[in-house]
Amino acid sequence: MPGRLDSVEESATLRLADLTGELKKQGRDILSFNLGEPDFSTPANIIEAAAKALRSGKTHYAPSAGIPELREAIADKLKKENGIDVAGNDVLVTPGAKQAIFYACFSILEEGDEAIVFDPGWVSYDACIKMSGGKTVWVKSNEDGSLPAELPEHVSNKTKLIIINSPNNPSGAVLGIKDLRLVADVAGDNGLYVLSDEIYEKIIYEAKHLSMGSIIPERTITVNGFSKAYAMAGWRIGYATAPKPVLQNMLKVQQHTVSSPTTFVQYGALAALTGPQDSVERMRLEFKQRRDVVIKGIRGMGLRCEMPQGAFYAWPKVDGKSEEWAERFLEAGVGLTPGSAFGPHSDDHVRMSYASSMEDIKKGLERMAKLLGGGEGRTEDKRQR
Ligand SMILES: Cc1ncc(COP(=O)(O)O)c(C=O)c1O
Repeated sequence: MPGRLDSVEESATLRLADLTGELKKQGRDILSFNLGEPDFSTPANIIEAAAKALRSGKTHYAPSAGIPELREAIADKLKKENGIDVAGNDVLVTPGAKQAIFYACFSILEEGDEAIVFDPGWVSYDACIKMSGGKTVWVKSNEDGSLPAELPEHVSNKTKLIIINSPNNPSGAVLGIKDLRLVADVAGDNGLYVLSDEIYEKIIYEAKHLSMGSIIPERTITVNGFSKAYAMAGWRIGYATAPKPVLQNMLKVQQHTVSSPTTFVQYGALAALTGPQDSVERMRLEFKQRRDVVIKGIRGMGLRCEMPQGAFYAWPKVDGKSEEWAERFLEAGVGLTPGSAFGPHSDDHVRMSYASSMEDIKKGLERMAKLLGGGEGRTEDKRQR
């Protein structure tokens, strides 16, 4: 009998990043637009708070659910910004949002249970579901990123969970109230949980962020973290809030796997939430400028591309197999991620992260335009130009 991990694939985004690294080592000039990490440094006040914590002896195990001050600050933020009415005790601090997503899947899914993931969807949802013994049911999002009205048809008596992600990695789409109500109704009618991954909440452009936890708190696991908004990817710190029985199980998994998130890192996270927020806005504006350049460049090449409303990825449509396209772009000196990594219906897209300097972005776009100069692969939609 195949084991749980046999069907879990190595992360395709990391594999391509590795291949890019290999080519670079061989002296090839490759501009990588693969990874989902802000290129900014962590703001100084956050670094200082963590360093101070280290110097003052915050080097012991923390309480397993996180330090009380941080749990309170997160509850405060969830109440004020997201309309989710929770107390510090309802918050679990985790070593990254990814870990919280794994805990949630592991806590909710039993062997053979199904979880709905919208396609395109972030690569690790499927892996977390499989590692928990569950099965992913992929449901294709509409081309504009909204959710399909046929969602109820994908629910079976084995379905336990629906995962949503807004702003979306890889498409940058932001869910509106109609999408949230659709998911909330399906969850309510069928007794399902909804995992709402809100990690890109602060990197949003014309749209407004809405939290599922403000609509159906009794069914929602809200996951968020510090990696993107505060450029803290390497710190490994995130959090979740969930209905009590789920949160208790998530805490058990944390207690027996990581004990507690790193103690001094939590003081950095506390400073992030309670300190000045101007660096968050500065980064958002920089991402927006880059987005505009990227989308103009991509459309100018004759590729069809929706305007991302959030996150830092462009998601152009390509005419053919995405892995072949990613290899072709890599040969031309540009590292992109094949759409196939984000679901079975996404093999006709590639993802370009614009968490890179404007200079690299412009150079990368030039290389892509040169490759596409012959008109190959055009998926142009005149409406969008
Ligand atoms: C959609 C999404 N969720 C979660 C994560 C993981 O975030 P963290 O660094 O907090 O584990 C990422 C990181 O790329 C992501 O893109």
